[in-house]
Amino acid sequence: MTQQTDDISRHIAIRAGGTLLALDAGSGRRAQIVYAGPDLPGVTAAELAMLSTRQHAPGGPAAPLDGSLLHEIGTGISGPSGLIGQRSGRDWATDLRVTTVETPAEGMVVIHCADTNVGIEAQHNFTIDPATGLLSASTTIKNTREEAYCLDWCAALCLPFDARLGRFLSFTGRWAGEFHIEEVPAFQGSILRENKAGRTSHDAFPGGVLAAADTTENAGLATAFHLAWSGNHRLRIDRHSDGRGFVQMGELFFPGEIALGAGETYRTPDLLVAFSHNGLNGASQAFHDHLCAQVSDTRTASKPRPVHYNTWEAVYFLHHEDTLIELAEAAASVGAERFVLDDGWFGGRRHDAAGLGDWWVSGDIYPNGLHPIVNRVKELGMEFGLWFEPEMVNPDSDLYRAHPDWVLGVEGVETIPSRGQLTLDLTRPEVIDYLYEKMDGLITEYGIDYIKWDMNRDAHHPASGGSHSGRAVIHHQTRAVYALLQRLRDAHPKLEIESCSSGGARADFGILRYTDRIWTSDNNDARARHAIMIGASHFFPLRLLGNHVGPKTCHITGRTFSMAFRVASAVFGHMGMELDLRRENAADLAVLKAGIALHKTHRELIHHGRFLRLDTAPETNLIGCVSRDQREALFSYAKLAEDVAAHPRRINFEGLDPAMDYRVRMVWPPHNPSVSAPSIVDAADLMGEGAVFCGAALMGYGIQPPLMFPDTCVFYHIEQTG
Ligand code: GLA
Repeated sequence: MTQQTDDISRHIAIRAGGTLLALDAGSGRRAQIVYAGPDLPGVTAAELAMLSTRQHAPGGPAAPLDGSLLHEIGTGISGPSGLIGQRSGRDWATDLRVTTVETPAEGMVVIHCADTNVGIEAQHNFTIDPATGLLSASTTIKNTREEAYCLDWCAALCLPFDARLGRFLSFTGRWAGEFHIEEVPAFQGSILRENKAGRTSHDAFPGGVLAAADTTENAGLATAFHLAWSGNHRLRIDRHSDGRGFVQMGELFFPGEIALGAGETYRTPDLLVAFSHNGLNGASQAFHDHLCAQVSDTRTASKPRPVHYNTWEAVYFLHHEDTLIELAEAAASVGAERFVLDDGWFGGRRHDAAGLGDWWVSGDIYPNGLHPIVNRVKELGMEFGLWFEPEMVNPDSDLYRAHPDWVLGVEGVETIPSRGQLTLDLTRPEVIDYLYEKMDGLITEYGIDYIKWDMNRDAHHPASGGSHSGRAVIHHQTRAVYALLQRLRDAHPKLEIESCSSGGARADFGILRYTDRIWTSDNNDARARHAIMIGASHFFPLRLLGNHVGPKTCHITGRTFSMAFRVASAVFGHMGMELDLRRENAADLAVLKAGIALHKTHRELIHHGRFLRLDTAPETNLIGCVSRDQREALFSYAKLAEDVAAHPRRINFEGLDPAMDYRVRMVWPPHNPSVSAPSIVDAADLMGEGAVFCGAALMGYGIQPPLMFPDTCVFYHIEQTG
């Protein structure tokens, strides 16, 4: 339906899945959001517009300025503009006015705007997912003049947020320390986070959460937002002098990166927004469910996530056929279902300074190709996965020697060294064809089930000397990565792909349209992993988050942990192992096997239940998965430091049905973890038959966990009786 808006129909409300978006989009006016948030049943857009009336501020413009969807420069808005463009220093004063509004389906609205003075058009798309209430918003800009229009900044949207949301949770980190939550208390002014790594980045996750002062994991207002994009980005939050607050997210362009020729368009990535009145968990759950239903590949969504064995920390670059076969056998014997051969199998890749780009099996170490390993892996009933880093090349490679011009860079400007590798220019069709041909050939020859797609350096001077003649191309490069992934998936419908980038530097809903797993972090330290998984869980469901049992002494932190703790810390996630199984003793291998079996028993619940973070003592981590029908749940309680009090703080379970009776049992670790007796473990026979309590008691009064050593973890299994 296309409608020419007039004053009567200028107020538009779209609502779905518990979210309401109210717009003022009268023809010839600047479009603006009147309200975006949890649904207010029965409330009309017109009454919200009336309620949003603001008083004239003495000393300011004649009437209060409402702004627009992009707050263009020159429209009088005090805060920064969401659209910055120009033609040779002119045509920057844009003022987009509504032409038509379409409401193509329930929960969708498209607003068309034009600025005939400057010669651009804008199309703003809004869609609310009816299942989760998650809002997707994007903007498309079109140049309607002959002369190129240079786009310097275009936010997907200037999203207003509720003034009560004073706290900002930002997600930052580093290599082997991703997804750390950094809380910024109420602030006035601006917060700016920019990423120009050429990948999603370790340090500036494209998203965040705004929360009220009293919001907890399970109660209160929260708005979580995320840009579905794997390239450069900018996130800014501004609290204007008039008291209003806005979030802007979009691609960060290098100078001159986007120049629209006559009639050309640019579309921003989607800004995804979840509005919760059920605390931080409510927003996370909307992201998780939206991803599973709308973004993830349906071909793999319903398949149980196989337990991985990954070779990286076991052998690094020391590949020997016999060793790898021995590891495959050991992995299968403890329950692995997919064997992933990591870096080191191709070309001259005996260390990290050579071989990238030479995507053929190294004849020096594999005279019979990979067939003996692949055959044994498949005989053992496992899938076979292989590591690639397609976007990169080492100068010490046959590929680079043949095609030194195939890399990104600015002529005359020194390249910043990083892991001895350079970024290939994927905007050149010949590079894409080379990569496709090599990867397709190997996938076909070996029946490869799975690819670990890595990307291990930032792109500092991402210019293409090809058809882009020296322009920066991260926008086009990112789209080219997506297209190559899609081409491989089309050719190999059962192929699954993991998104890895020095651990978790490419985790976003853009790449997840084409991939099936995220390698959350290279840090397999069982204690550190809890914080990394908690951070990532704000946006990503456990079924997509790779989580591995590491070696006894962690290679990243040098800390040593028991096998019972290492296994338990990997159960909540897409479980795997990444250790030299030949170095583990028989007792530890038995614990590992038992932990993997436990994961498989509860995998459906962990991967498809409703995920919850629980408010708990700071030295602990308490998370759970509750089945959709609330009949079953599994909670993980990890002790990460010594108790502050003599007795650990009680656990108040969440997400259960208060009226149901549940049997509670402690299903991990294999032995009673209490350091003293008596405790409730004995009193309620939790390690045996367990005891029955009603949901109201388990949630409202809770249970005292056992007093345990630090670096231990217990699982409570809770199941409806009768
Ligand atoms: C990156 C990945 C690791 C491993 C190495 C191989 O660092 O994050 O898991 O694959 O590359 O070089």
